[in-house]
Amino acid sequence: MYGDDIASVLISEDQIAEKIDEIADLVAKRYPAGAPEGDLLLVGVLKGAIFFMTDLAKRLQIPTQMEFMAVSSYGSSTSSSGVVRIMKDLDKDIAGRNVLIVEDIIDSGLTLSWLLRNLKSRNPASLEVVTLLRKPDALRTQVDVMHVGFDIPNEFVVGYGLDYAERYRDLPYIGTLDPKVYGGK
Ligand code: PRP
Ligand code: MN
Ligand code: MG
Repeated sequence: MYGDDIASVLISEDQIAEKIDEIADLVAKRYPAGAPEGDLLLVGVLKGAIFFMTDLAKRLQIPTQMEFMAVSSYGSSTSSSGVVRIMKDLDKDIAGRNVLIVEDIIDSGLTLSWLLRNLKSRNPASLEVVTLLRKPDALRTQVDVMHVGFDIPNEFVVGYGLDYAERYRDLPYIGTLDPKVYGGK
């Protein structure tokens, strides 16, 4: 539907679904139901994590609550500016809660390391991260993650929530973007 903008399918819909099942089992084991901190609080990082957040929540066999935070560091560029802006903050206080940040991708790691610092200062009982994708070769800062779905090569990827200039989020799979789209060769 985007013509030949997508150079290749990196991770198919089926592979994503299978991985989310695995991650859901691991998360449910880590947070047994009936904890004194109350239900696990999933914090989805908008907009990229929309599909991962909703698919993961549906597959988790434990009660969870959902909050969203919107942060942006990329704008319409293909590399992170390192300056993270809160476009939408959490609605609720997270003090004393078990918080699991749900993110689509760790690229430079700047967004998450900023977010971890920010949320930690709000005194949650625990704070962990689950990310569907990570680019080990692009990391510019160390980020501790509980679960990583897939480590991927350092290429610009789109789909399943990930955008380039707000496009391609609606693809059901993760694909690599043809460099001609962003002015590469
Ligand atoms: C993207 C992606 C991650 C972040 C990862 O978000 O969804 O949140 O960048 O990059 P980093 O590890 O280099 O910081 P973006 O800022 O593009 O906002 P979006 O989720 O609304 O697309
Ligand atoms: Mn994002
Ligand atoms: Mg983006």
